Amino acid sequence: MPLVPMTAFIEDSKKNKYAVGQFNLNNLEFTQAITEAAMEEKSPVIFGVSEGAMRYMGLDYTVAMAKAAAERAGVPVALHLDHGSSFEVVMKCIRAGFSSVMFDGSHYPLEENIRLTKQVVEAAHAVGVSVEGELGTIGGVEDDLSVDEEDATLAKPEEAIRFWEETKVDYLAIAVGTAHGMYKGEPKIRFDIIEKVASSIGAPIVLHGGSGVPDESIRKAISLGVGKINVNTENQVACTETIRKILAEKPNEIDPRKYLGPAREAIKEVVKGKMRLFGSSNRV
Ligand code: 13P
Repeated sequence: MPLVPMTAFIEDSKKNKYAVGQFNLNNLEFTQAITEAAMEEKSPVIFGVSEGAMRYMGLDYTVAMAKAAAERAGVPVALHLDHGSSFEVVMKCIRAGFSSVMFDGSHYPLEENIRLTKQVVEAAHAVGVSVEGELGTIGGVEDDLSVDEEDATLAKPEEAIRFWEETKVDYLAIAVGTAHGMYKGEPKIRFDIIEKVASSIGAPIVLHGGSGVPDESIRKAISLGVGKINVNTENQVACTETIRKILAEKPNEIDPRKYLGPAREAIKEVVKGKMRLFGSSNRV
């Protein structure tokens, strides 16, 4: 199946109250693990690619891997730019074959964020590519993006509603208390903000920083209108812990397949668990 925009998931996920997972690609093994999990769970899936990961993998390799994975998968797969920082990078990704983009203008003043996001929506929708926008700033560290917890600002519901009405993004990420990376304590998620915004706009809400959020909070967020959840750190932890353990047990191991293969399995198990939790298993 060719890559699909995220709009391919909206109707069914809204009707059946589940969320589709965005799992970030870091290399070939991540791509394979996420694809196999989607196939085994019969779940739609979103490949997230940050600008940092894109620089690491190469834009051409990234698109080629995602296309090969989608052809093999037999389930709907979207290739989505995560936290796109400019109109130029969004256009570069669309030209290269991405089926979906996020434009993150959350660090701009509201008016400027609306203006820039609208430009992206017009251009992307003209070629059938879906768009995610962001309001409020999500704390934590993800590649080039680093926001101190004190500087993270929650989305204001009235602004989020206006942002959606004016930009008509397909998915809206709002800062509600989650953060990129692992949490020190339990995240304090503002379910009231999710509820207020989700019940007033026509787009599903995106929850960034899905790693380490308790299962109960995830279920509640989905019941209130979250339709996409991003996970990266938990997969990175599973990958790296597996490699560390193998190399500690066999310090003379030099064949990368001997530790990357098991790491790939570990990532797959995490992704499968998330798909079940998000309710996206057995939907295709
Ligand atoms: P985590 O790394 O905290 O799971 O967040 C991923 C994310 O939100 C990507 O945009």
